Amino acid sequence: MCGIIGYVGRQPAAPILLGGLRRLEYRGYDSAGLALQAPSGRLTAIRAVGKVMHLTAKVTAELAGTPEVAAPVGIAHTRWATHGAPTEPNAHPHFSGDRRLCLVHNGIIENYRAIRARLEAKGHAFVSETDTEALARLIGEHYQGDLRKAVGQALAQVEGAYGIAVIAVDEPGVMVVARKGSPLVLGLGEGETLVASDAAALVAHTRRVIYLDDGDIAVVTADRVDIRDRHDVVREREVAELGLDPGAVEKGGYAHFMLKEIHEQPESVRNALRGRLDAEHGTAVLAGMGTSARELAEIQRIILVGCGTSLHAGQVGEFAFEDWADLNAEVQPAAEFRYRNPLVGSRDLVLAVSQSGETADTLAAVREAKVKGALVLGVVNVVGSTIARETGQGVFIHAGPEISVASTKAFTGQVAVLLLMALRLGRGRRLSLERGRAVAAELARLPELIGQVLAQNDAIAAVAGRMATAEHAYFLGRGPMHPVALEGALKLKEISYVHAEGYHAAEMKHGPIALLTPGTPVIVLANRSPQWDKVWSNAEECKARGARIIAVVSAGQVGGEQADERIVIPDCDPLVATIPAAVALQLLAYHVARLRGCSIDQPRNLAKSVTVE
Ligand code: M6R
Repeated sequence: MCGIIGYVGRQPAAPILLGGLRRLEYRGYDSAGLALQAPSGRLTAIRAVGKVMHLTAKVTAELAGTPEVAAPVGIAHTRWATHGAPTEPNAHPHFSGDRRLCLVHNGIIENYRAIRARLEAKGHAFVSETDTEALARLIGEHYQGDLRKAVGQALAQVEGAYGIAVIAVDEPGVMVVARKGSPLVLGLGEGETLVASDAAALVAHTRRVIYLDDGDIAVVTADRVDIRDRHDVVREREVAELGLDPGAVEKGGYAHFMLKEIHEQPESVRNALRGRLDAEHGTAVLAGMGTSARELAEIQRIILVGCGTSLHAGQVGEFAFEDWADLNAEVQPAAEFRYRNPLVGSRDLVLAVSQSGETADTLAAVREAKVKGALVLGVVNVVGSTIARETGQGVFIHAGPEISVASTKAFTGQVAVLLLMALRLGRGRRLSLERGRAVAAELARLPELIGQVLAQNDAIAAVAGRMATAEHAYFLGRGPMHPVALEGALKLKEISYVHAEGYHAAEMKHGPIALLTPGTPVIVLANRSPQWDKVWSNAEECKARGARIIAVVSAGQVGGEQADERIVIPDCDPLVATIPAAVALQLLAYHVARLRGCSIDQPRNLAKSVTVE
């Protein structure tokens, strides 16, 4: 949700912090702030409402000619409001009562009201509505010259999730960081150490990183890090090498990250498939499934959990597991999983689908499934993320950093990986060699199929131009195209603010059709599939009520000519076709949002990774 960066070193911290915040801005962007520590220990904080550029302007103006310009230590934060509106007083950093220490915080302190009431009774006058200020003041209450100790004592009284970075006037050159349920990664440089909530903020400075574990508290200086675990035992954590290319977190000439990420999909899906297709045996080789062929063969049911776009990817996967692997598969919204007391056991495979690997609801589902004894695998993009580490096994989608808040290449990567898994499980069951080879061959074509959709960018932009003023749109699909319809509608509403709904095509006549008025755009996923004629009848029903039908059809397909507009995707296996169809809908949403002048990469009210329930 929010983004944290901290720096302890010998260079001026402010430009490093602001650069890091720009890379983290996709995580939250309603306000931002930083605190700098001079070599004397003095703390200076600057906050601004709105995007990081507003903070940058303020920092530049306020620091000009002051010694703080060269301050070599600092912490910074970009916020997605949870407690209190996006105002300057609510922006981080927050200070202790005596203003001798300050912190930035990701996550939620669940018992902050009780802490706040206790502190107010002692005379604290809070200046914000945030949960974070309660934590800052609580640490201040415990502080007696040892910041690490004070942080540990305060956190022992806290319920909830946190990733924090704290600095104090009395300990110049020292930053204390801690995490529980909210990621933090340390970056080890030459004579400098950084901390961030996301490795993307570190790539410009170092490749050597340490992912902190839940419960860790670390004392960070320019030259060393001392990590203690939840039991206060000193720990040597593994130093990992970041595989990120700094260019991957830049726009690279595209107008928006979203457009760049849409166009990266031939490559990102190729990466998801790389080395995993065995054409000869008609199967997939997935080392990350880590489980013996016998164990896989014994799986009786697959439960896919995820949120938002990842939930939709799981819903496509559900069809593939049933169709190719003859497996009973079901999808559950991760937010619901642990509260419905799920019937899950040792012969169930739970797949946690998540781009970020940090989504609180999905993580909670992972933990619950593990307690219930299920085999739990992650389908995750971010290596080193909490879900990746807690599942311990799974299949990475290797989509590279996804910066745009609206997920695109992660979705296609997730679907590609789920299709690979379904092929692998299918071949261990009843899927024939011949069918397996045919499926593997179709999957291998995916980068080329996506490229064919991207080549129609201008035609799709023209369709978008003719629907850009509509205030409502409906997306219809059946079978595996139903979740693609849901995803198309989600994309459109997220970035263009057009009210959009996805429905099972057959459901339209059971109620939603009442919403249609002449000219309402109805996007119908009417590609080649066994259910084509049914889908088309549903489209005709909408057309008869005056809707404007935009049909997504397969190349060479006969039928559907009566549509008002046609977007042609390459002809391929109906499950594989979910990926090129999704790419077409991503482009459609992108162009509608562009024509409506929306903030595409950072839509209002959203944040990239949702680490609160
Ligand atoms: O990181 P995750 O895949 O777990 O995130 C899940 C959802 O929050 C995410 O897909 C969200 O719906 C996106 N904004 C969709 O574009």
